[in-house]
Amino acid sequence: MSRHSANEMTPRISPNLQAQSERKQSAPKLMFFGDPHGDLESVVAAVEHCRPEAIVLLGDIQARQLLHIELSPILNHTEVWFIHGNHDTDTDADYDNLWGSELADRNLHGRIVEIAGYKVAGLGGIFRTKIWDPRQPVEKAAFQSSDAMRRAMKREERWRDDISRKHRSSIFPVDYLRLLRSGPADILVTHEAPGAHPHGWRAIDELAEMLGVQLVVHGHHHQNIDYVVEGLMSTAAPFRAFGVDMGSHLAWPLDSRAETESEALPQDLLELATRVFGAAAQAWLNKPHKLLDGQTPVAFAVRGGSKKVRSMLIAIQHGGVV
Ligand SMILES: [Fe+2]
Repeated sequence: MSRHSANEMTPRISPNLQAQSERKQSAPKLMFFGDPHGDLESVVAAVEHCRPEAIVLLGDIQARQLLHIELSPILNHTEVWFIHGNHDTDTDADYDNLWGSELADRNLHGRIVEIAGYKVAGLGGIFRTKIWDPRQPVEKAAFQSSDAMRRAMKREERWRDDISRKHRSSIFPVDYLRLLRSGPADILVTHEAPGAHPHGWRAIDELAEMLGVQLVVHGHHHQNIDYVVEGLMSTAAPFRAFGVDMGSHLAWPLDSRAETESEALPQDLLELATRVFGAAAQAWLNKPHKLLDGQTPVAFAVRGGSKKVRSMLIAIQHGGVV
């Protein structure tokens, strides 16, 4: 709140426009963090640097002590939300440091919460065939809910008088279906990846499409993936998708300068790139290149360097190695 008031009071003409624009770019609304696996220091450091309105941890948190203690340096600076991952039920400590934390009620699994002006839907955990293989109809699931599973278990088989610790990070059909029916939403965060990923699931796409989200962000696979840049999804797809690596983060909304640049790319350059690279054109255009001072071809072209990008593409087209 104080940050907002300070921004509103910033004079329109600043003596240091550069610093002002850097500050603006480094204060995203939302930041999504890939699987911390116990390293919450890098989350704290990134939040202290960027000061986002809110953050979402994408699962496999494995806090080494209670999560609210690990994140105590930033709790007054940002809103903390999360989904759980499969490893958050590996040990009693993994489980208790998350579900026993004062932040336990910030789990987005199976619901939609308005965060930093966005309706954010969450699906934590993973699909396990012993519960439900989502390639099969829901009726074929071994258990529809954790309640149904608990009822089928003998008392001595239970963990803390409920289902096993492991399956508390499995996705049950009822939780998935409840979320599916509670849209609309703007953003879907999941631990599992969407169908375009080699280890992803169509059920994530179907959920995203039913909710009408513009963005899907996932963890679990320890890769930073922009599905459009990697050629896994087209810009015409109903939503953008990103994977976030462990120790890494994605800020949202995306840097508006980069987005505007993509739109400003001369049409003939886009066509030339498509002739040269086919479906991988976007990936090449958005990947930093050492011959362009480490800038992406898109950024270099729209900042006056389209001639150089064009000649690189022509060289590649004629078999040159660029
Ligand atoms: Fe995982």
